[in-house]
Amino acid sequence: MQGEYLAQLGNCAACHTARGGEPFAGGKAIHTPFGAVYASNITPDPVHGIGSWSAEAFYRAMKHGVNAQGRLLTPAFPYTNYTSISRADSDALYAYFQQGVKPVAQASREHELGFPFNTQLALAVWRVLFFSPEPDTINSIALRADSMPANDPKGFKNEVERGRYIVNGLGHCSACHAQRNALGAVSSDGLLSGALMPMQDWYAPSLHAREEAGVQHWPREQIVAFLKNGVTQNASALGPMAEVVAKSTQYWRDEDLQATAAYLQSLPVYPAPSKKAAKVSPQTLSQGAALYAQHCATCHGENGQGIQETDGLAQQGILPSVTKIPALAGNRAVSLSSSANLVRIILAGGYAPSTAGNPRPYGMPPFVHVLTDDDIAAVTTYIRASWGNQANAVSASEVVAQRRGVLQ
Ligand code: HEC
Ligand code: HEC
Ligand code: HEC
Repeated sequence: MQGEYLAQLGNCAACHTARGGEPFAGGKAIHTPFGAVYASNITPDPVHGIGSWSAEAFYRAMKHGVNAQGRLLTPAFPYTNYTSISRADSDALYAYFQQGVKPVAQASREHELGFPFNTQLALAVWRVLFFSPEPDTINSIALRADSMPANDPKGFKNEVERGRYIVNGLGHCSACHAQRNALGAVSSDGLLSGALMPMQDWYAPSLHAREEAGVQHWPREQIVAFLKNGVTQNASALGPMAEVVAKSTQYWRDEDLQATAAYLQSLPVYPAPSKKAAKVSPQTLSQGAALYAQHCATCHGENGQGIQETDGLAQQGILPSVTKIPALAGNRAVSLSSSANLVRIILAGGYAPSTAGNPRPYGMPPFVHVLTDDDIAAVTTYIRASWGNQANAVSASEVVAQRRGVLQ
């Protein structure tokens, strides 16, 4: 079913399927600065789900963020992105959620938002300030794949247009990669210029900056490989991005990955705000070097070169080289001006997503119970200042704050 593919493209399950819960029966909490919001049951159950909804009502929810009962929906449901969906794609999704998903009789949970954010009035005001529905479009992923000839004039003008439709629409990359204001609205400049994710100590880097997550200078195939496999020679998907790859982009069709890559490459390039790397004390560096040799070098290499996999599919030229252990030398994730992700991965460890191209990812062990705050600050500072990496030092107090989050 086309709709099933679109649900993967839009990663509906990321929010609507709770861990260990029935598919799309809801119940998963999304923590916002205004309180917890629970994704709804969107199975075709007529009472608790959307079984009694019309296709029109479903389209209105996607495009306008208003549900079948006329309730304004919170923008934790990323309708500010989904608003660009075409009626054809909405109908394909609707057909899938009515016919392809098992109905589950489970009530949606009430949100736990503080006053005034729990009121319809607040949402109405928010919408006036920050939301305008996109004009209707005939562009469609579903129709195109089924019945439209490749160069149908009613379809996308070109590959970049298709990529824009995916990235800004169902793909909702801006939900994490764009800055938000104090009221949680994605900035209206339309840029994906990087943001600290609300309530999570993860920084989603700028897709406009070469020093961050911009891929304008990457070979096209490497971008496709990153989204498909979750790893490439000099980048690996971590934390929330690993989930995006695991649940969504690894399943995207090649034409959609290619279009996404084309669009990401068409984004204007802006330099990331640079913080001048301050002088690091020699003691910190030698402390960091010793810790690195003891705890990290077996995997990441004495010179931060990592371990590349050269066998299997990569060797036969079927897949681009898949990384076993990412290099730290020349790795943008290591020298981002925000050290949030770095401290987080060293404290909590993690896995790259398991994908067809990298089915058994190696894990990064957690150091939360192994290294002190001071140690982690020193080793992080060391890898940010070695092998050509040039980034500012990390202080023990930054580690303290993150450790609290990891231990919670
Ligand atoms: C980032 C999390 C997130 C993603 C991704 C997401 N949703 Fe939701 N969705 C929510 C939340 C939270 C609500 C509840 C909003 C409210 O009640 O105000 C919701 C509500 C809805 C509703 C309204 C249900 C009702 O009974 O009022 C529909 C329909 C819906 N989502 C469909 C989808 C579809 C289809 C997708 C994938 C294309 C999707 N959602 C992806 C978070 C998400
Ligand atoms: C749920 C939040 C979230 C969403 C949605 C999301 N990202 Fe990310 N992304 C992140 C975070 C956090 C990082 C930094 C961690 C890392 O390097 O993997 C990241 C990193 C990246 C990188 C940098 C890779 C590197 O290390 O050089 C690229 C490229 C990227 N994302 C592209 C995308 C695209 C394209 C989409 C939409 C299809 C998307 N992201 C959607 C959170 C997200
Ligand atoms: C057992 C092997 C192993 C050891 C030991 C290890 N790592 Fe890792 N590390 C990994 C793997 C595998 C990944 C990729 C994880 C992922 O993608 O989520 C990784 C990821 C990372 C990343 C993120 C790189 C990126 O591309 O986003 C950093 C930074 C890092 N490790 C630093 C360290 C430091 C510092 C130490 C020592 C304190 C260390 N690692 C010890 C295996 C290891």
